[in-house]
Amino acid sequence: MSAVPFPPDFVWGAATSAYQIEGSPLADGAGPSIWHRFVHNPGRIVNGETGDLACDHYRRLDDDLDLMSELGLGTYRFSIAWGRVLPTGRKAPNPKGLDFYQKLVDGLLARRIQPMVTLYHWDLPAALQDRGGWLNPDSPAWFADYAQILFRALGDRVPLWVTLNEPWVVSVLGHLTADHAPGHRDLFEVPRVAHHLLLAHAQAVAAHRALKGASRIGIAVNLEPQHPASPSPEDQDAAERRDAFINRWFLDPLFHGVYPPELQSIFGAAWPVIPEQELQRIRTPGDFIGVNYYSRGLVRADPAAKPLGAVRITPEGAPLTTMDWEVYPAGLTETLLWLRDRYGNPPLYITENGAAFDDPPPSEGEVTDLNRVAYLCHHLQAARAAIARGVDLRGYFVWSLLDNFEWAQGYSKRFGLFQLDARTLARTPKASARFYREVIRTNGASLG
Ligand code: FCB
Repeated sequence: MSAVPFPPDFVWGAATSAYQIEGSPLADGAGPSIWHRFVHNPGRIVNGETGDLACDHYRRLDDDLDLMSELGLGTYRFSIAWGRVLPTGRKAPNPKGLDFYQKLVDGLLARRIQPMVTLYHWDLPAALQDRGGWLNPDSPAWFADYAQILFRALGDRVPLWVTLNEPWVVSVLGHLTADHAPGHRDLFEVPRVAHHLLLAHAQAVAAHRALKGASRIGIAVNLEPQHPASPSPEDQDAAERRDAFINRWFLDPLFHGVYPPELQSIFGAAWPVIPEQELQRIRTPGDFIGVNYYSRGLVRADPAAKPLGAVRITPEGAPLTTMDWEVYPAGLTETLLWLRDRYGNPPLYITENGAAFDDPPPSEGEVTDLNRVAYLCHHLQAARAAIARGVDLRGYFVWSLLDNFEWAQGYSKRFGLFQLDARTLARTPKASARFYREVIRTNGASLG
């Protein structure tokens, strides 16, 4: 066998986020989040579904820890609900909220699973939204204060921290398209929110450094290579603009201290004046980059599509997931090589990768999801190809451990290695869980 193996200390994981799995959003004194508000606003979510129950993970913690053990996970990536720890987002912590995450971390360590903790996976405390949310110039300080509470409470046991999950999605889906909480549609808000998110990341990284712990900290961004739908100069320009808008928007300032120049023309009058001093502060990628990879963008110019003048199209005849995302494993290798070349080969984790398919009901204790097995297999091979070309890839996390609340899509899109029975909440392993357990057990050798 000629394939370059995964490094011996490669981290094998699965990922989830708080609002998508926990349920019990107001239990034990937790404050409501913007997602709790959003889902209770009629018309926002497919079938009017909510995260009120989700996977009931908050009450089934031990069972879910056992699922992770069954898989043989080395690492588990989860997020903390800010409003459990700080019900109004600031000031005095709620000990019961912190306890839940203490139990989770201890339960992982008892099973020899390392925690990777995401501090912000989109569930801002509603009380902070009432103060302007991420538009408030104080929001980076709120975030850094919250982060410090967690560094102090869990820092001795958590080796890997992620500040923010997908700041692009927070900025664009939350403040431009209104698909996500807080459901705004205001071009002027978008670059300001994005900038405050970057400052929040930088301030949390600085707080983490000040504590001088042994753990490492990074950020998770959604990336997808942008390919022109035709060789026309219009489509090529459109793909470049979308590349600036999605891939470079956050990474260029983090690594180079500048925003991509295309953003100014995309946002026009909505682009803010940004002090040089703030750009210098943001220039702090942290210890690693988390890459969330699902698909590529095939891009066509469309002057009517504001503000970008570009749309993503679905390639004819291409294999699609039920999200209508093209299955395109080569794009993962391309993305990892692009990171290596553009940003000086930083340490990377694939913090999310996975696929939604309509799975059949269980039969004889297992769900047959061969399309997901194929998806994971091909993406893992694509990751390995990047390692063979010198990319400093240190780990891989499947999205997701179990079927869960897929934001605006409710429970209609299923990404899990374990199936969730919506009625009984029973968890049933899919063939992909068995496949992944074997990948982990052999450190990737089973991929052939
Ligand atoms: C990512 C999110 C994650 C999940 C997957 C499908 O954008 O980070 O929570 O919804 O997409």
